[in-house]
Amino acid sequence: MGHRFLITGGAGFIGSHTALVLMEQGHSLLVLDNFDNSSPEALERVKGLANGQGSLELIEGDVRDADAVEHAFKSGGTIDGVIHFAGLKAVGESVNDPLRYWDVNVNGSRVLTAAMERHGCRTLVFSSTSTVYGEPQTFPLQEQTPTAPIHPYAQTKLAVEQMLGALCRTGAWRVASLRYFNPVGAHPSGRIGEDPLGIPNNLFPFITQVAAGRREQLHVFGDDYPTPDGTGIRDYLHVMDLADAHGVTLDHLLQQPDSTALTLNIGTGRGLSVLEVVHGFERATGITVPYSIVPRRPGDVPKLEACPLQAKTVLGWEASRTLEDMCRDGWAWQQANPMGYRRG
Ligand code: NAD
Ligand code: UD1
Repeated sequence: MGHRFLITGGAGFIGSHTALVLMEQGHSLLVLDNFDNSSPEALERVKGLANGQGSLELIEGDVRDADAVEHAFKSGGTIDGVIHFAGLKAVGESVNDPLRYWDVNVNGSRVLTAAMERHGCRTLVFSSTSTVYGEPQTFPLQEQTPTAPIHPYAQTKLAVEQMLGALCRTGAWRVASLRYFNPVGAHPSGRIGEDPLGIPNNLFPFITQVAAGRREQLHVFGDDYPTPDGTGIRDYLHVMDLADAHGVTLDHLLQQPDSTALTLNIGTGRGLSVLEVVHGFERATGITVPYSIVPRRPGDVPKLEACPLQAKTVLGWEASRTLEDMCRDGWAWQQANPMGYRRG
């Protein structure tokens, strides 16, 4: 039987793909989003793709606004669980404006969980990040690897993990903090995808915009890292695999009779260098991606690669889509929506 879930930040990149997966499973969703970094159009397209399965209602509001969150809990039926995507994620911006990150990411989570506590809804999936590990020296990167965040963005995510851990120790809460590695790609329809404002900060949208001719060339940030080809290694996973992980996590939490606190890496376990991604994209699409090597980007670490075994053991989830799938689907989205949702 379908559940009713509150999805904060449900109009964003990961939230929209997850919303679709949950609707296809027959769930009723209430999305709370202030559209700080997204567009209502994403949700219209999600509804179109769901094609009558499940349902989706929207409350436009800020997760820091206790009245807006209260309204979400009071509108309609009981909420069985929450996925908390709403947050800010730009590392550089977090260095320049740390208070905004502590406010949105930490205070927003506090306001949300306070409302959950009031309404007796204590099942939560939280969007954490692999950057909580900082610059790890040893691999495989397991959940018990010490955390050492090196910028305010990661510090705020770790702070929320710790706040949620403390809540779980009061009993009754069932919480999963999912440490995402690098989600990329798009739904295979090309109808929903990642829609960065301005010049993309991240590798994958930059590559698709170069391929589309919107940008002249890719700047590869450093080829002198201690990696086989000298470029940085990351664990890229298809956003649909990540969306599936949320559905499986909610199912798992709802089955737990007792208080549960999970912290799980969500990645493929197969790290790829920048040049491997570039060449994989070229193979998948037949398009050449011009690039030049430029100095390292401050704050980048040589390598982040998940040990994904805990997620497989606990949830039975593992990533199934390939780099080719990520490139093909991300390219389909870019081609169909050259300027994203806003003008696409
Ligand atoms: P996104 O920016 O596309 O989505 C975030 C959504 O939250 C947006 O729709 C935005 O409008 C909304 N939002 C922001 N502040 C809000 C507020 N105060 N109140 C209500 N809504 C608000 O980002 P995403 O890539 O989908 O990431 C989702 C979550 O996953 C974020 O918390 C992010 O930190 C985390 N995460 C993302 C990545 C990644 O590589 N994309 C990696 C690790 C963790
Ligand atoms: C970055 C953030 C991370 C955040 C994630 C998703 C930093 C230091 N980290 O992760 O906290 O969770 O985005 O928002 O910003 N690269 C290039 N050229 C480019 C862009 C990237 O060579 O134009 C390289 C980077 O040096 C890195 C790799 O590509 O080696 C991946 O970069 P990116 O997509 O930005 O992801 P992260 O740096 O892992």
